[in-house]
Amino acid sequence: MYSEKVMEHFTNPRNVGEIENADAVGQVGNAKCGDIMKMYLKIEGDTIIDIKFKTFGCGSAIATSSMATEMIKGKTVKEALQLTNRAVAEALDGLPAVKMHCSVLAEQAVKSAVYDYAQKNDLYFEELEGFDPDEDHDHHDDHHEE
Ligand code: FES
Repeated sequence: MYSEKVMEHFTNPRNVGEIENADAVGQVGNAKCGDIMKMYLKIEGDTIIDIKFKTFGCGSAIATSSMATEMIKGKTVKEALQLTNRAVAEALDGLPAVKMHCSVLAEQAVKSAVYDYAQKNDLYFEELEGFDPDEDHDHHDDHHEE
């Protein structure tokens, strides 16, 4: 049911923890399953030089957070906003359909952290247009089908 990569990132997640004096922190939750994901970013210039996460959630949420952090480490904040839940799931060699919403949480956690960064630094990113870090992220699946 789960790919080897999912199992590997679940049992040995990368970038777990928190960053003291992080430049940005994002947190999202899924009201239905109750899982929570928190991401910390250290940003220099506009590059994400360090990233850590804490996920209180299912194995897929942990695996997707781990993979998402690996995918945006060293990238610019703008590039991080391009990360889709589909790309994260693909990088993990797929997720069971019923677990796709867990990858949405990872995408939203990254966006939420960049949102925090934008707020603190008075920056505008069109990718964050309409993004609400406090909304329930369970209903977003359809927006990510493309
Ligand atoms: Fe809640 Fe996976 S079941 S994020």
